[in-house]
Amino acid sequence: MKQLVHKLYARGELSKVELVDLLEHMDVETRNELFRLARLRREQAYGDKVYLRGLIEFSSYCRRNCLYCGLRAGNREAERYRLSPEEILECCREGYELGFRTFVLQSGEDPWYTADLLASLIRDIKGEFPDAAITLSIGEREADTYRLLYEAGADRFLMRHETASRRLYQELHPSMSFDHRRQCLETLQSIGYQVGAGFMVGLPGQTAEDLAEDLIYLLALNPDMIGIGPFIPHDKTPLAQAKAGSLEDTLVMVALARLFLPEALIPATTALGTLHPQGRELALKAGANVVMPNLSPVAVRKKYALYNNKICTGDESAQCRHCLELRIEAAGFSVDMGRGDSLKALASR
Ligand code: 5AD
Ligand code: SF4
Ligand code: FES
Repeated sequence: MKQLVHKLYARGELSKVELVDLLEHMDVETRNELFRLARLRREQAYGDKVYLRGLIEFSSYCRRNCLYCGLRAGNREAERYRLSPEEILECCREGYELGFRTFVLQSGEDPWYTADLLASLIRDIKGEFPDAAITLSIGEREADTYRLLYEAGADRFLMRHETASRRLYQELHPSMSFDHRRQCLETLQSIGYQVGAGFMVGLPGQTAEDLAEDLIYLLALNPDMIGIGPFIPHDKTPLAQAKAGSLEDTLVMVALARLFLPEALIPATTALGTLHPQGRELALKAGANVVMPNLSPVAVRKKYALYNNKICTGDESAQCRHCLELRIEAAGFSVDMGRGDSLKALASR
């Protein structure tokens, strides 16, 4: 199996058959070799730098019903909140003081925030912090809205494709369209956003073939950013009894994503940190190069519950920022508080 890893390192891709073979026969030795080469690739592209993004979870309302997610509309027990534009700006001010130059504005799909409201919020943030990048993570909207928000100053957009398996996507996303989500990602790219896609690992019913398809899809889309995290069950969802994705499988997918897309920005996700106390550090050592500490007000943090036992819900933004810096340095990397644009975006300037 090691030969396949070396072939991937040399060529930057594998066929679907080879990927499935590799995933189904991954032994410890092969895995460690994969992690080593992924870390090397990341070093060639981005050195030992880890980029920090300030995450602001501004609304826990969602009109969707994704089977895995604690914020799904069908979860009547979820406590919902919305931050006002002024409260969101206040989070940005605190984040800017702490050194952040990227703000990620994330929410469920919440139409309360109209296109005009979001555009004016983005203009306000950019007016106050012209040297900061704004990343949106607000789900599916009209192309016109995406355009308006880009013109207002948004730089980047995160929207995971969740899974590249049509069958699995349809099972997990009642009344959502597999094709429409992919169209949204392409629209976002054509408007000029730096785009992030990504998927969950260990979804119930997910096969090695499905995971191979995730990588093949990413290679074709060529996104600037790739979010990969383990599925973790949430008590108040239809998947409450399902098994979580494993640490090892998720790290393997992070490493493979790095070798398929050497220039991508890949976060060590909070879900990985939830699965294992060293999950994020291990992801950095397997090719990830971004961390997204929480800037949301502590009073609302526990309410943004996508899955059980989410970490960092009790800590002030400053504590989280400090804690991460220590962790990143202890793991042998250095923190970069710059905007941290993707190499792809910088090359096309
Ligand atoms: N476990 C892990 N990740 C989840 N997400 C949503 N619910 C869960 C869960 N139960 C992820 C989705 C979404 C991102 C914001 O969080 O991939 O795109
Ligand atoms: Fe809503 Fe996103 Fe959760 Fe789906 S994953 S229910 S769209 S917050
Ligand atoms: Fe949030 Fe350690 S990273 S408290």
